[in-house]
Order: sequence, then C-alpha cells, then structure tokens
Amino acid sequence: MRSNRFPIDENTEINWRVLKDLVPHLMEFRGRIVLAIAFLIAAKLATIGLPFILKYVVDGLNVKDTATQLVVVPVALIIAYGALRFAGVMFGEIRDTLFGRVTERAMRRVALKVFTHLHRLDLDFHLNRQTGGLSRDMERGVSGISFLMRFMVFNIVPTLFEIAAVVGVLFVQYGYHFSLVIFASVVAYVLFSMRATDWRTQYVREMNQADTSSNSRAIDSLLNYETVKYFNNEEYEAKRYDVDLKAWEDARRKNRLSVFVLNGGQAFIIASAMTGMLVFAGFGVQSGDMTIGDFVLINAMTMQIFMPLNFLGFVYREIRGSLANIENMFKMLNQAPKVVDNENATELTAKEGKIEFKNVHFHYQPDRPILRGVSFDVKPGQKVAIVGGSGAGKSTIIKLLFRFYDAEQGEILVDGQNIKTVTQSSLRKLIGIVPQDTVLFNDTLFENIRYGNPKASDDEVKQAARLAHLDHFIDSLPQGAETQVGERGLKLSGGEKQRVAIARTVLKRPPIMLFDEATSSLDSHAEQAILQALKEIAQGHTSLVIAHRLSTIVDADKIIVMDKGTITEQGTHHALLKKGGLYAQLWHTQQSSEEDESSKDKVNKER
Ligand SMILES: Nc1ncnc2c1ncn2[C@@H]1O[C@H](COP(=O)(O)OP(=O)(O)OP(=O)(O)O)[C@@H](O)[C@H]1O
Ligand SMILES: [Mg+2]
Repeated sequence: MRSNRFPIDENTEINWRVLKDLVPHLMEFRGRIVLAIAFLIAAKLATIGLPFILKYVVDGLNVKDTATQLVVVPVALIIAYGALRFAGVMFGEIRDTLFGRVTERAMRRVALKVFTHLHRLDLDFHLNRQTGGLSRDMERGVSGISFLMRFMVFNIVPTLFEIAAVVGVLFVQYGYHFSLVIFASVVAYVLFSMRATDWRTQYVREMNQADTSSNSRAIDSLLNYETVKYFNNEEYEAKRYDVDLKAWEDARRKNRLSVFVLNGGQAFIIASAMTGMLVFAGFGVQSGDMTIGDFVLINAMTMQIFMPLNFLGFVYREIRGSLANIENMFKMLNQAPKVVDNENATELTAKEGKIEFKNVHFHYQPDRPILRGVSFDVKPGQKVAIVGGSGAGKSTIIKLLFRFYDAEQGEILVDGQNIKTVTQSSLRKLIGIVPQDTVLFNDTLFENIRYGNPKASDDEVKQAARLAHLDHFIDSLPQGAETQVGERGLKLSGGEKQRVAIARTVLKRPPIMLFDEATSSLDSHAEQAILQALKEIAQGHTSLVIAHRLSTIVDADKIIVMDKGTITEQGTHHALLKKGGLYAQLWHTQQSSEEDESSKDKVNKER
C-alpha cells in the first residue's frame, strides 16, 4: 500500500554509519572546514565570556564611590559587553557562511550521483517505482545532508563544548553546587529528550510515509488525467486521494500531540534547574559569599546553556530523520542494477549488424515463462519481421536485444559477440529503437527529434524530420518545430509521436534498427510513404520489424511467426503462404478484412 520503496523499520537504531559514508563527500574543501571550526570555537568563547562581563558591570554599578556618593558607570565594560555580543553573533555567521559551501557542494555531488545511479538501474526497478515517491525520497535525502550538517556540526558539537566549559567554570568559581545542578539537569534533559524523541519517531515516520504516499497518488492520478476522464472517475480518484490525506492528517495529529509531550517535559526540566540555581545563588548573596553580580551571572549562564538545549529535541529528531533520509537515499545508491556490465566487458566492435538468438529463455516473473527457447538469426543488412498474437513476446525480444533485461538461458549475439560480455553503452550505441509506445520529453518538437543525436546540426534534424514525413505537419504548426509537445508528448497525435520516434532513430543512424509497430498509428497512406523512406534509410542496415499489419512486411527477407513465447514458423512471405500454417491463416484473415474495408469504402463513396 505504501509507495515508499524502502520502508523504515520503526525499531531501527540510529545508523551512525551513514555519517561515515557521508564524510568523503564533505572532504572537498578541507581548508574551509578547519576555518569554520576555528570560528565556531571563537563564537562559543565569546558567548561564555558574556555573563562574566555582565557580572562585573552589575558589581561595578553596585559599588558607590564613598567620597562622592556617585554611582560610577563602568562604560568600558558595557562597551566590551556589546562588542563581545556582536562578535559572538558575527563569528557564528562567518562559520555558517564558510561551511555552507562545503555542504552545498556535497549536496550537489550526492544528488548527481543518485540521479546517475537511477539511470543505471534496470528497467524493472523503474517499472516498479512511483516517480513521485522516488523524487521525494531523493529530495529528502539531499536536504537531509544540509540539515545534518547544520545541526550536527553547528549545534550538537558546540553545545557539548559549551556545557563542558560552563560546568568547569562554575565549579572553579562557585564550588560544586552549581556545576552539579547544571550537570544533572543537562543529563536529565538530554536523556528525556532522546527517549521522548525516540518514542515519537514512529509518528514522524508515519507522517512522512503518509506524505510520500499521498504525493505519489496525486502525481499518478494527474499523470493519468485522460484515463480518469475516460472512465468518469474523478470522484473515485478524489476519494482515494482523500483516504491518503486522512492518513496524513491522522499522522500529523499524533505527531503534534507527541511534540506537546516533548516540549512540556523539557520546559519542566529547564524551569526546575533555573529555580534550583537561583535558590542557591540567592542564599549565596544572602550569606555574603556572592555578589549581586554573581547572581546575575548564574542566571545569565543558566539561560544561555539551556537556550541551545531547547532545540535539542528538535535537533535530535531532525538528525535522526536526516540520517534516516540519507540512509534511504544511500540504500537507493546501493541498490544494484540487475543488468550490469561484466568486469572485463569489451566494446562491441564489429559494425556489420548480425543478430543471433540461440535458445533464449526468459521470464519477468519466475512462474510465468515468456520466451521458451527462441532461436533465430538476422544476417547483416537483412530485414526480418516478427509477427504473432498480442502478448506472444515480440516486444520482449527487442528488450532483451537492447539489454533492458538479461535472458535466463541461451545466448544473444551481435556480430558474433555475446551481448552479456560487452558494455551496455557500446551495444546500445549500435541499436536504434522505434518503440511501441513513444514517450516524449516536455520540450519542443525540435529538441525531441534532436534527442536522437544531441550533437546533430539543425540541418540534420530537419533532414530527419523530412525523412519521417514530419515536415508537412511541422509547417502546419503556428510555432513550427518550436511547438511544445506537452508532458510525455501528449499534445501530439499517436501517429505524430511515432514519426518523431522514427525521426529520432533516423538521426541516430545506428547499424541495427528495431521497429516495434513503428507505423501502427499511421493511416495506410502515411504508412506506405514512411515505409518507403525507412526502406531507403535501412539500406545497408540490419532491421528487425515487429508488425501487426502483414502487408507492411511482405518484402522482408525473413518472417518469424511467434506464438506463446516460441517460434512456430519462419521463412519468406511466399514460403510461409505455401506452407499454409499460422502465418497463412493470419494473412488470409487480414486480407479478407481489408477487402471488407475497401469494399465498405467503395460503398461509402458511391453513396
Ligand atoms: N515488465 C513486465 N513485467 C511482467 N510481465 C511483463 C512485463 N512486460 C511484459 N510482460 C508480459 O510479457 C508478455 C509478452 O509481452 P510483449 O510486450 O513481449 O508482447 P508482444 O508480443 O509485444 O505483444 P503486443 O503485440 O501486444 O505488443 C505479456 O503477456 C506481458 O504481459
Ligand atoms: Mg509489443
């Protein structure tokens, strides 16, 4: 039900190892890191100095010049107080500025790494994912780095440093009472915050999951806008979305209540500590051991210590959350692609374009074989057609040849080299595919065609458009080739999209071309024209053509007939007709229905 691909186990401990994985990404600006730490220490020293100056100011004000009976204002000290306060803030800002660049560089590197990795992962992974959820996971992981750095490096570590310094100073100045109270309350505070935060992590995760889930649902639903309309299912979609939203609302409510408990408990510990400290200080002043300045110092110092601690629950939770998010992202990075290059993979060299399938077996799911011992070959420069019923496994053959998947058994050879032993990129460079369903980028028509070869010149792109018979269409558009095609290319008709796909492949000009019903959405006239063009383009190229309309493949050097994952017949059009098998049957059925069509046309015309 949850779209999150990596559900987080509620009981997992914080995985500090994630930090270790992160460190290498931070090491690009070592100098900056050192400088930032120096400013961090300077800022903390300035803050610890503040209460002391305050003490001397108060004590100074409290002493009357016995001769004049005048209160002497210690101006120099007050100015020093102001200067130190300003310095403390400025040092902090400088530290953030210095370190910001380190974090941002790490974020950039990691985001790019994840993105590249996602493209490396196999088709299967991508068919099982939810784009919305995936992009959220990625986004959360990357911003997790920023959170982690901000809070870990600049909150937790300096705060610990400050606490230790203050406890020490109080001990030396005023004896063990004060340092003990501070120490005990800080320990109580930290323990409580961590326990409470751990307890409420489940609600935070629930909330995040509900957030991811409702987001994927909304995106999926909007991507399917047309389908929703076809079936009048707006209300159904809204209801499903609302179920997710309700889960999100519930999770938020529980989360809010848990924040209440956390903040309440923290406030109680702080208030008790403050009271305790002031009671001791009050007695100290009363007995004359301490001055009013000391009382002020104790108050200021206690407040100062607890101020950063106030965020501890939040910070701890954020760190936890960030670590979980980063871990999630790293898990995605560690997800091994199922289709990988061999360690000693070679470049696919020969350019002849011979294809051989030798007893290939394949399944998507173990209990449902799709290809069962498929063997055929395509000689260099030949045009071979694959025909057969829907679901017979025709498109699967193309996917295997392109190595979207690896065959379970058997071998696929291109120019005598097993495609498993060559690099994927060298294989794919040699193969052009016009897929069964073309999806376009949300960009201009021109850029979509150019995608076939980003280095192509404008003239080459135009030439490809002409070959794919797109030129008239483009001329008819007010914005011509600069027309935006809409998300996934939905603003184009099916036939137009197919022609864009053909133009792309023409631009790529690979030695092997695969057409998966490349002209199925075109009318007979356009189809014939394009087939003629393709014939010219395919001159000297090897092509594998999947077709439903048998009249388009009559001229093929060989026709392979598939049924339920096996090849039942192969041969030329005439040989197969003579044989009188499945192909002959298909041919006659299509012929007679085409005759029906044309006679209907005639009748219509005569009317
Ligand atoms: N990613 C996948 N996961 C699971 N099953 C799949 C997957 N892709 C395809 N199939 C199944 O494999 C079978 C063969 O699919 P394939 O796309 O090769 O058929 P086809 O011969 O091209 O059919 P059509 O003529 O309808 O395009 C189908 O029954 C399909 O349901
Ligand atoms: Mg298909």
